[in-house]
Amino acid sequence: MEQPKMIDVFIMDKRYRVPAALTVMRAFEYAGYRMVRGAGCRGGFCGACATVYRMTGDSKLYVALACQTVAQDGMRIAQIPSFPANKARYDFATLAADGARLLEIYPELGLCKGCNTCTKACPQELQVMEYIGAALRGDIARTADLAFDCIACGLCTARCPGELTPYHIALLARRLYGAYIAPRSPHLARRVAEIHAGKWDAPVQELQALSVDELKQRYNARDVEK
Ligand code: FES
Repeated sequence: MEQPKMIDVFIMDKRYRVPAALTVMRAFEYAGYRMVRGAGCRGGFCGACATVYRMTGDSKLYVALACQTVAQDGMRIAQIPSFPANKARYDFATLAADGARLLEIYPELGLCKGCNTCTKACPQELQVMEYIGAALRGDIARTADLAFDCIACGLCTARCPGELTPYHIALLARRLYGAYIAPRSPHLARRVAEIHAGKWDAPVQELQALSVDELKQRYNARDVEK
């Protein structure tokens, strides 16, 4: 049987030989690490697997999501599954669609140096500095729109020399947008009213009474939108 091509990766500065074509996350696991922290969805959505690396002989620091990035020969890797970022506390119910609140709640917005390091650090390739600029101007809708695909991996914060927390600022803007600015959905309101009126109680109770196998059968037989 043909042997897989092997490459060298350095995890926390220790060399491991792993098969080529594994993701960085799989390389960690092949090397014997158990991903208790630093792994979640494994599909590029949850932001739990923020990773920094250098290539041997290259001084540049690169960032990546471990579950989405193929390991390369000579990679020197460390994970940042959690970064101690400032997350402001606020009573969301007392807020309104007032863009000035972004700067009030996150005054460090004013410390942005315009260096664009945050944008370069984003594995989602978001225009982070641009949405920080929009937040500074109090433009909630623009901030929310530009940050829509943020998965809160925290790499922007880990690299920002102004010590901003772009992803928390973006989250606040998205929440404000969703609560106060986004057009209301009439069919959602209708469905919520139906739920409150008990229209769906019987179908839910029927599902609750099914065994796990019956639930699986129902799930597999469901209509799937093409
Ligand atoms: S594990 Fe969720 S984004 Fe990588």
